[in-house]
Amino acid sequence: MPTATDVFAKIRGHERVEQLRAAREADLLPYFRRLESPAAPVVEMEGAERIMLGSNNYLGLTGDPRVMQGARDALERYGTGLTGSRLLNGTLDLHLELEAELAAWMGTEDAIVFTTGHQANVGTLGTLLGPSDTVIADSGDHASILDGCLLSRAKLRPFRHNRLDRLERTLEKATDDGGGILVVVDGVFSMEGDVAPLPQVAELCERFGARLMVDEAHGAGVLGARGAGTAELMGVEDRCDLRMGTFSKSLASCGGFVAGTHEVIDFLRIQSRAFLFTAAGVPAAVGAALAALRIIRSEEGPELFARVLDNAVYLNRGLHEIGFHVVEPQPLPDGSTVVTPIVPVVVGDDWKAVFLWRQLYDAGVFVNVALHPAVPPGGALLRTSVMATHDRATLDLALQRFAAVKAAFEDEHGPLPGSRQ
Ligand SMILES: Cc1ncc(COP(=O)(O)O)c(C=O)c1O
Repeated sequence: MPTATDVFAKIRGHERVEQLRAAREADLLPYFRRLESPAAPVVEMEGAERIMLGSNNYLGLTGDPRVMQGARDALERYGTGLTGSRLLNGTLDLHLELEAELAAWMGTEDAIVFTTGHQANVGTLGTLLGPSDTVIADSGDHASILDGCLLSRAKLRPFRHNRLDRLERTLEKATDDGGGILVVVDGVFSMEGDVAPLPQVAELCERFGARLMVDEAHGAGVLGARGAGTAELMGVEDRCDLRMGTFSKSLASCGGFVAGTHEVIDFLRIQSRAFLFTAAGVPAAVGAALAALRIIRSEEGPELFARVLDNAVYLNRGLHEIGFHVVEPQPLPDGSTVVTPIVPVVVGDDWKAVFLWRQLYDAGVFVNVALHPAVPPGGALLRTSVMATHDRATLDLALQRFAAVKAAFEDEHGPLPGSRQ
């Protein structure tokens, strides 16, 4: 007898589908907006010029002539695609050069390149962990980390975002689980832009015999003297067992990597299904990432890191002065503070965040909107982010527009969080 249940039935009347329909009808959908130019500080979007404060092109390298030439050279030499996996027919000398240079940059024995950062997390966690292990993840970790943990069928023990007391208690419990333990955290959290307290996390891992993996998607190419990420900035590179990164942000391309010991990385090469059973990154993507990495590792790198971080501080302060609720600069082990290129404005209510987004968009500023589950319920954010290539005049203009939109919004809807009345 055929089943009475249609697997598609759950789509009809799904809460998200209804929200999407309502937002589309009112032209309030902040997602899938059409970009009509490169991701520069000012972009063409849907027929108008808008200040881009919603890109992860932190170093502004996606339009750099050297990076574009890297992509073009690879395209000319190898064609448009590899039509197969790294295992069978998709490994180029470019992949191997990139892996060697990534390992040198990270200061590790080895590195492996995946087709995306998402696959790097899924392919690493899903391979190294098994059902007899325990994985401990920060509740703010990226979705790809959670996907890798779920795939592995290891016992997943999440802990409250950046709460070291909770991590410690979770580690205590995990030692009774009887298997190996891996702690995995984002170095820079992708929505709030705050950093993990890595020295204390590493110390707890060492105390309980756990391994530590850090996702440096937003830290690599920005933080630390070499731009090697949060672990470098906090002086704990040698205390992190695995460091993951992506090419889709500072490295101006598409792809991902994991760096660690030769033993572990080589194991991933032969066992990781997200590496073995998918097509290799296309030549142009690999050529662009390699060219971007070479700029990052040149004398120019530190200038770019300083510029993007300076812009982040400037925007963070400017938004604070206007009266928005921003994430405070984060304390570092040496007593200084850091503002990462992710500079969120806390709004709280989902619809208020969407209305504000629309008014900013109409005023010529594009930002991202983060709603639950990307943030905790009631924690809606306007996620703004800066590039090294934003100049002060552009940021000032964006701030003026933020101020005007805020005033008009509050006249109509009442005060926003953090607002000084
Ligand atoms: C923290 C974090 N990890 C992993 C990823 C996945 O990277 P990719 O875009 O290369 O798939 C992202 C991208 O959004 C991210 O923010």
